[in-house]
Amino acid sequence: MRRAKISIVGAGNVGATCAHWAAAKELGDIVLLDIPNRDKPEQHMPKGKALDLACCAPIERFDSKILGTFDYKDIADSDVVVITAGLPRKPGMSRDDLLAVNVPIVKSVSEKVREFAPNSIVIVVANPLDAMVYTAWKTTGFPTNRIMGQAGALDVARFREFIAMELGVSVEDISALLLGGHGDDMVPLPRLTSVSGIPLSDLMPADKINACVDRAKVGGGEIVKLMGTSAYYAPASGTIQMVEAIIKDKKRIIPSAAYCEDEFGVATGKKGKGCFVGVPAILGTGGVERIVTFKLTPDEQKLMDESVSHVKDLVAAVVKLFPELA
Ligand code: NAI
Ligand code: 2OP
Repeated sequence: MRRAKISIVGAGNVGATCAHWAAAKELGDIVLLDIPNRDKPEQHMPKGKALDLACCAPIERFDSKILGTFDYKDIADSDVVVITAGLPRKPGMSRDDLLAVNVPIVKSVSEKVREFAPNSIVIVVANPLDAMVYTAWKTTGFPTNRIMGQAGALDVARFREFIAMELGVSVEDISALLLGGHGDDMVPLPRLTSVSGIPLSDLMPADKINACVDRAKVGGGEIVKLMGTSAYYAPASGTIQMVEAIIKDKKRIIPSAAYCEDEFGVATGKKGKGCFVGVPAILGTGGVERIVTFKLTPDEQKLMDESVSHVKDLVAAVVKLFPELA
């Protein structure tokens, strides 16, 4: 049986950690691609990381092949391509501050993906996430089911973890959902959060729930402040959860930045003029196979509208930089 092939563009903190989780779960063969370091031409970072990871195989017992490369030819026939190439934020920066520097990177990477892995499913991770997914979509021209972004998998994991910490119960028993863009205005949904089937509101007072919501919203920033750079263990874990759902055709419902035209009030009114924003998506071998919709309360819809409006502003900023991406 042919093994699945997962290519990860950007072998930095998030990319290399994606490779780590994918290998540990033996999801398939892995390609780690990055660019040469002009100041240190004697080095080959992706090759070094791939070799280091490969040497875990006898201990961790996986047979995945791991290749480090500078050459896009190596991503040919990938089932999934993960784009983590791009700068991370530093303390004091918002994700949006990365837009001007990361649009050209994601655009150039997407051109290569279109050329060398035209049948792949693409998961974008670079920030500002929702605008980078749009950039990759417009550049590759891939159908919308084959382009998505990772954010909700991470954000909802943070939300679940903070609830579990507060209640002192297993995180496995926390079921939660979150919508919206990958910004501080993301929309965690406490109404749809339960603990082993028990509504969260029966177990936690409103002020504590609100504290968990707020902490999830700024969870990325909390870690940037602590580490001086952005998080990578959980972002990579969330990304590989999506990769696994796709490769194993699991049909998991994972909040993902997926293309919307009229779901959850993302009314653009025009076919082909939608935007990518976090919604519950069924992920399988067809990529985003379906978006699961349901009715929001007026308060939830208001928060979603604000988040979507922010995403649309970011997309407008992308188009201002590169009018051909309109
Ligand atoms: P990093 O700096 O550790 O790694 C980025 C890598 O991209 C570097 O190795 C760099 O050489 C490479 N790169 C830059 N330009 C490239 C190009 N044209 N082609 C190929 N590789 C290129 O950064 P880190 O921490 O891995 O973050 C990567 C991105 O992911 C950032 O934009 C960050 O904001 C974003 N991020 C998104 C999250 C999410 O949930 N969506 C969570 C965490 C980070
Ligand atoms: C995070 O949420 C910075 O997007 C990154 O950790």
